[in-house]
Amino acid sequence: MYPRFILPLALLLTPFTASAAEAPLYQFMQPGSEIDRRAHALVQQMTLEEKIGQMTQVDSRALLDHADLTKYAIGSVLSGGSSDPKTGNTAKDWADHYDYFQRPALQTRLKIPILYGIDAVHGHNNVIGATLFPHNIGLGATRNPALLEELGRATAREIAATGIDWTFAPAVIVGRDERWGRTYESFAEEPGLVGELGAAYIRGLQTAQLAGPTAILACAKHFLGDGGTTGGVDQGDTRMEEPELRKLFLAPYVPAIRAGVATIMVTYNSWNGNKLHGHKHLLTDVLKNELGFRGFLISDYAAIDQLPGDFKSDIETSINAGLDMIMIPHGADRKPNTYIEFINDLKELVQAGRVPMSRIDDAVERILRVKLESGLFEHPLADPRLLPEVGSAAHRELARRAVRESLVLLKNEKQALPLAKTAKHLVLAGNGADNLGRQCGGWTIDWQGSPGRPTEGTTILEGFKQSLGAATQVTYSADASNLAGADAVVVVLAEEPYAEGKGDRRDLRLTAAELAILRSAKAGGAPVVLVLLSGRPLILGEALDLADAVVAAWLPGTEGRGVADVLLGAYAPTGKLSFSWPRNMEQIPINVGDHPYDPLFPFGYGLTYGQIRK
Ligand code: BGC
Repeated sequence: MYPRFILPLALLLTPFTASAAEAPLYQFMQPGSEIDRRAHALVQQMTLEEKIGQMTQVDSRALLDHADLTKYAIGSVLSGGSSDPKTGNTAKDWADHYDYFQRPALQTRLKIPILYGIDAVHGHNNVIGATLFPHNIGLGATRNPALLEELGRATAREIAATGIDWTFAPAVIVGRDERWGRTYESFAEEPGLVGELGAAYIRGLQTAQLAGPTAILACAKHFLGDGGTTGGVDQGDTRMEEPELRKLFLAPYVPAIRAGVATIMVTYNSWNGNKLHGHKHLLTDVLKNELGFRGFLISDYAAIDQLPGDFKSDIETSINAGLDMIMIPHGADRKPNTYIEFINDLKELVQAGRVPMSRIDDAVERILRVKLESGLFEHPLADPRLLPEVGSAAHRELARRAVRESLVLLKNEKQALPLAKTAKHLVLAGNGADNLGRQCGGWTIDWQGSPGRPTEGTTILEGFKQSLGAATQVTYSADASNLAGADAVVVVLAEEPYAEGKGDRRDLRLTAAELAILRSAKAGGAPVVLVLLSGRPLILGEALDLADAVVAAWLPGTEGRGVADVLLGAYAPTGKLSFSWPRNMEQIPINVGDHPYDPLFPFGYGLTYGQIRK
């Protein structure tokens, strides 16, 4: 259905503006548009300091003095992974926090509002009470672009309710090695599917009218080659020739740009030993000139610091390579006033002729085009009327549906599934059965996520209880030791939450303790269903024999009832693997199109039920 490389190279080589049959969606994509003229005119009025301010993005927790927002006319603020409002973490706290950071921008000479950015990567995941959707790997298994568009829309509405303008999503990562801790941020190992789902999600976030009250700016990330590092090492080196780099990793950016993505984030990793943040060929020649990307490029968190040389030379290299806005956090390794250093250094670099003014003007025009078209100038502050959007019943219902569609049935023997609704007693076991934090994974309230109950939602156990009547007893036995009278045992095994490099693993085999739970479950004699909560395929080993049925449920988010819906047969499973499932560690990396190709379950695999037992 998805040929290995869906985009012919010729298409990648054709500039977007010349080839598109359809009119560009947004004015910022169109040279000579009204927005273009306004951005250009505004830049003409700006001092060098004001221009540099626009190119500066500060973490809300890094600001030394709130007055600096006005003093330096700072263009953007972000909340990195765990950078919450100081007052609390409800949607209302966030909306107030947003206004608190926006107001000083409105006091500047030109009154250019800030863009506030956040990682809403599976719903508005920093906010307590928001609806959290499955992580991208689960969405890839749905193979449903229309659903992705709906999820983008729902997420955007929840983000808009807190005033925030911009999400660093979707990741259009093509994950090629599941040892990598960011595998779950990838829709698929295959670029065509990634591009199709990514573009749908962008349409959902941005809508046809960027100025609409609930449209949110998207950010395709991380450009380029993030999923292809040797050994699946986070921020590592992707080693391959350019044609392969284009086919595997550039391909999803073509539909993303066509869908009008307003921003693109550059990646930490290198390509053949050279950091992308200094890669003029890929950032400027390929992305901006060849693909015709007219939005702006944002750096990753403190990523320019990884370029060779001191901070000043990092700035020179990255801006000259084509970066338009620099994300400047506080960092343990850098002084808290890094943003002031950035502003001063960049000014000196321009004055010394080391960064041309034309480059600065281009960067600022790009940023202003997006700001002007986003409606920010007309409606800079949060709209409290939108607050009920956060965690609304309609969004939770949508999330539950997404969970159902994301489940992949890998094995089903002895008609273990669906579970009979007439069962008298079901036992749930394992560390994921009643643990909201584990089913949500990383990027949940905190950067790394956490087990337990970090936010509001329904665990899988709770979902079972809600779905079954009083006639069925549902009990929980963590290690599957208490199975008396069980008609079936559902063992839910979960990875511990993680994000980015902290999730890099050399060993993806189920542990001895996990296998022991399955053995104990099997010894009880009732059918055993294994549900895996994981950010990637895990090595099943003996578990495949111990369990009568196996379901990959990925990281489903807050609506655990979607798992019960499918296991209890109210819905048949429809998910199809968007990653090849390896037999053993030695097979990794293994990807569709490889020769030889003999995974345990191939890309596209997924069973369903025959006759559904009611
Ligand atoms: C991640 C990005 C994220 C950024 C801002 C970085 O560590 O690589 O994906 O958008 O932080 O939080």
